Amino acid sequence: MENSIDKLNRLKREKDAVIMAHYYAIDEVQEIADYIGDSFYLATLGRSLPNKTIVLCGVDFMAESAKILSPDKTVLIPDFTATCPMALMADTDGIEAVRKHTEDVAVVCYVNSTAELKASSDVCVTSSNAVKIVSELPQKNIYFIPDINLAKYIQEKLPEKHFIFNDGFCCVHDGITEEETLKAKAEHPGVKLLAHPECKEETLRHADFIGSTSQILDYAISSEDDAFIIATEVGILYKLAQHCPNKTFFTVNNTQFCKSMKKNTVEKIIEALETGEPEMVLQGDFIRNAEKPLTRMVELA
Ligand code: 13P
Ligand code: SF4
Repeated sequence: MENSIDKLNRLKREKDAVIMAHYYAIDEVQEIADYIGDSFYLATLGRSLPNKTIVLCGVDFMAESAKILSPDKTVLIPDFTATCPMALMADTDGIEAVRKHTEDVAVVCYVNSTAELKASSDVCVTSSNAVKIVSELPQKNIYFIPDINLAKYIQEKLPEKHFIFNDGFCCVHDGITEEETLKAKAEHPGVKLLAHPECKEETLRHADFIGSTSQILDYAISSEDDAFIIATEVGILYKLAQHCPNKTFFTVNNTQFCKSMKKNTVEKIIEALETGEPEMVLQGDFIRNAEKPLTRMVELA
């Protein structure tokens, strides 16, 4: 009798498929994934792989970015309800209004956004390259959508730029409060706090290192410290434990949990490969228009 791993491997061969997962996916999915990474890696990886099918175990905007950058591939998203609420926290009317009333402005779109928002923007960024890319833009004024916390973090690094903020946020990272952060630091004196820039300004103020998921992982791996407090989603603990078996990781609170990311399961991956659904399908116009800011990101990163 074929077990689920044999079945998965057979389907992967039959469909010429690779499985990609974000660091926030559940442990079982990270275990069977061929590639695991941050959102920049997942968006761009498909282009360098020969496979016809990508199964993207993340959230909707990640599958959209992969499809936009690899339009000839089939992109399957095991659970179509795995959506990122922040991706919808800006709108094209707001972009038009800013463009109309502000001279010398660049619309910078965090990759955690819908394809529609990307299509109306000048350039995309992820948390791993946002500071570098914004610093290289010729415009002084930056309308940054949707995440206000990441925007404030970049603004602090680049005081020469003038930011127009939009009030989107990630409920998981924004929910890590300063009070909880100080409590965690008091409980673990001398232990470094590693935080994602989607956290609030007052939480980031207490961080020893701020970076994307892959940068947090790299920092923990190369550091000589043997314990860390982690201010990002708990899924990253799987890779941290795998790479640093002798180090200890604490979270700030017990709600660092992205419900959408946890919706992808091995059973749903098998079903998606068997049925070819749900597939990420985007209209040609969206693909063409959203491809420009994403490609500009790849060039500038
Ligand atoms: P990274 O690009 O750092 O992996 O972040 C993705 C994300 O959704 C953070 O909430
Ligand atoms: Fe979106 Fe936050 Fe989940 Fe990342 S952790 S996918 S930003 S809701």
